Amino acid sequence: MSLLTINKLTESVGAEVSGLDAAGLAADDSVGSVILDALEANGVLVFRGLRLDPEAQVGFCRRLGGVDHSADGHHPVAGIYPITLDPAKNSSAAYLKATFDWHIDGCTPLGNEYPQKATVLSAVQVAEWGGETEFANSYAAYEALTAAEKEHYGSLRVVHSLEASQRRVTPDPSPEQLARWQSRPTHEHPLVWTHRSGRKSLVLGASADYVVGMDLAEGRALLADLLERATAPDRVYSHVWSVGDTVIWDNRGVLHRAAPYDPASRREMLRTTVLGDEPIR
Ligand code: OGA
Ligand code: MN
Repeated sequence: MSLLTINKLTESVGAEVSGLDAAGLAADDSVGSVILDALEANGVLVFRGLRLDPEAQVGFCRRLGGVDHSADGHHPVAGIYPITLDPAKNSSAAYLKATFDWHIDGCTPLGNEYPQKATVLSAVQVAEWGGETEFANSYAAYEALTAAEKEHYGSLRVVHSLEASQRRVTPDPSPEQLARWQSRPTHEHPLVWTHRSGRKSLVLGASADYVVGMDLAEGRALLADLLERATAPDRVYSHVWSVGDTVIWDNRGVLHRAAPYDPASRREMLRTTVLGDEPIR
């Protein structure tokens, strides 16, 4: 691979990749393993002005693993899911309000699918104000715990639900909305994820509802405190989008959220997700 450079954007998360254009991404057979290694090391990779077209984006993702087709049908290109608050562009746009809270994708799947390995977003239209995508490293969040906390939290389990993440943005659901949320199974995950690599990360975010066996309020206060520490401003990379940017994140090792933007904004991102092959355990 020619002249690819990777420059860290913050101390704990994010790096900018340069020296690779859309054609290079498509042509170079070694690109998949190089990108996966860089992703593991940096959590988030930024390609400014890549101007990847939707088919090329899906092709790129195929080099990283299986492409998730479970949300197909919202965009003419299979594998592409539009992220927008405009229901004319995505009939399930209402659910995307939950992207304004810190989260890990895929903690409350329909079945027992593993969380996605990686997610790619490309900017088609950017918000007039706000709409940055923010990232925090959940490996670093674990590492920053004290030895006593690591010991104690290593045995805790947390119930995640779609209802928990939706309630944060829609606190007064209609009975129909609530029934729809509750029809999705809840999932119990360890608070500390021991990855196949041996690294450990915290599993936190909007879907985390309560700590098993702990007083409800106490457990929620613990989850909120851990999330606050994990996402303190000096631990966050905030990507300010320009049209044509592509960003990819390690969904297993970072938390992410969208910064607020005008709900009437035409902001539109095209998303492709790479299927996970590792359970949270
Ligand atoms: C997502 C997501 C954030 C954003 O696509 O999973 O959380 O900034 N997007 O749109
Ligand atoms: Mn997300």
